[in-house]
Amino acid sequence: MAENIHPIFDTILAKSDKEKLLNQRGVVVWMVGLSGSGKSTLARGLEKKLHDEGVLTMLLDGDNLRTGVNNNLGFSDEDRTENIRRAAEVSKLFCECGVVTICSLISPTNSIRKMAKEIIGEENYLEIFVNASLEECEKRDVKGLYAKARAGEIKSFTGIDSPFEVPSKPFLEIITEGSTIEESLETLIERVYPKIQSG
Ligand code: PPS
Repeated sequence: MAENIHPIFDTILAKSDKEKLLNQRGVVVWMVGLSGSGKSTLARGLEKKLHDEGVLTMLLDGDNLRTGVNNNLGFSDEDRTENIRRAAEVSKLFCECGVVTICSLISPTNSIRKMAKEIIGEENYLEIFVNASLEECEKRDVKGLYAKARAGEIKSFTGIDSPFEVPSKPFLEIITEGSTIEESLETLIERVYPKIQSG
């Protein structure tokens, strides 16, 4: 707990002043799902589409954050919680600047997602459940991590020997099995775009 700290919250400029400048609403698009479900692909695709529409965005990907701000964290329950806490705090900073912040993190449990939502603020938090079955993710095994986890070379792998709880009330669920990336992106943009329009 921080001691002898005196944060100033009555800043001269509000979130809305920055949003006015950008002509957009700052929100956090929080994409959750198993490894290999398609989170990062859709997050990147969404960012490109929004950018092409003149929207200022920031993409925060679990793997990338883990090489920098979260590079001292592993995959224990405690470390995953800290990983999500930091990602949510960083997202909040961007969001307060009016930036549409797209996060791609497994965020495996309800309590972890609840924490992210509380940090970011319910009104700015759009949870997207990128859903593909474990069987499908394992079949794709884009990074070869499921094979390693099954061989016991990676411990606490989500879906294998570490839990993934299905999100109970996401803003949107995208089932990536049986649809093309382009179809999933269409669904995503259709639901997200109205949320970032100002006015
Ligand atoms: S979490 O659970 O939200 O803290 O995870 P996240 O920060 O999104 O990191 C997930 C990426 O880390 C790689 N990786 C693992 N994932 C799950 N379990 C274990 N044990 C693990 N070890 C490494 C993997 O590349 C994940 O990326 P994605 O994009 O999900 O495939």
